[in-house]
Amino acid sequence: MYEDFYGFKELPFNVTPDPKFLYRSTGHKEALAYITYGVFQRKGFICLTGEVGVGKTTIINAFIDLFQPSLDVSFVYSTRFPFDQLLYLICEDFGLEVEGLNKAQMLSRLSRFLIEQYNKNRNTVLIIDEAHNLSPEVLEELRMLSNLETRSMKLLQIMLVGQPELEDILDLKEMRQLKQRIPGLYRISILNRNDVARYIDYRIKVAGRGNGVPRFTDGSIEEIYHYSHGIPRLINVLCDRALLVGYVSNTRNIDGTVIRESIRDLEKKPGMEDRRAGRKYNNY
Ligand SMILES: Nc1ncnc2c1ncn2[C@@H]1O[C@H](COP(=O)(O)OP(=O)(O)OP(=O)(O)O)[C@@H](O)[C@H]1O
Ligand SMILES: [Mg+2]
Repeated sequence: MYEDFYGFKELPFNVTPDPKFLYRSTGHKEALAYITYGVFQRKGFICLTGEVGVGKTTIINAFIDLFQPSLDVSFVYSTRFPFDQLLYLICEDFGLEVEGLNKAQMLSRLSRFLIEQYNKNRNTVLIIDEAHNLSPEVLEELRMLSNLETRSMKLLQIMLVGQPELEDILDLKEMRQLKQRIPGLYRISILNRNDVARYIDYRIKVAGRGNGVPRFTDGSIEEIYHYSHGIPRLINVLCDRALLVGYVSNTRNIDGTVIRESIRDLEKKPGMEDRRAGRKYNNY
């Protein structure tokens, strides 16, 4: 697409949670430190929350990339399952053969595995993304799972990652036993105005070859901040569109006008007349 025009090796504003692009704002740095501390101190439960698109999955991927060799990780997304199915997925992820086993048998297989891991001095981590979708019943079962422990430490570190609604679930009266086991909870904050500029700059540097890169003016940063409220995914969507608009207009200077035009494009409802009909990016 526009990579060659700007001298990019790859697209700088994809919306995949690729940790290579991780910009370490204070909030993202603290989040990474919090989960690292929780896992390596074997705290048992770790809870990371944040608004949609703020970077939760990216942080988890960065954590896994950083520490994978020293950890055994099960990373589960599908959280609308009942506990039995979740347990099956977790066991499979740890490489355990559990086909045809019932819940009690799977639990016993998992606890044997965790003890073996402990004896090998391995730290075992279960990460549940989209954890705001977990029902109170499943959360209660997870609490029981975390009861597997030696006298001094937890055998399984359970990381719950989700939208702020997860905090409301944990605040329910019937969840207080679980809540008490979570040593603090970290909510990732959205980016401030200065961070937005640095974030854009960082992603461009990672994707760039060093020459011909676009220049985002101060005015454009202001518009991007206003539009995105500092949410990285929204910044990416807008910046990607702005680079396309710049490419079509043959400019590497991304200013407020380019951003406003990009916002209009993004907000255009399907079926509205396409003002850009015939221009070159309609073919993409
Ligand atoms: N600190 C960051 N540095 C670089 N890119 C980031 C950062 N935070 C988020 N992003 C980017 O923003 C996009 C959304 O991030 P991610 O998918 O991790 O958000 P999320 O909080 O998991 O969203 P959801 O609530 O929808 O699951 C991704 O493209 C990701 O690369
Ligand atoms: Mg996510």
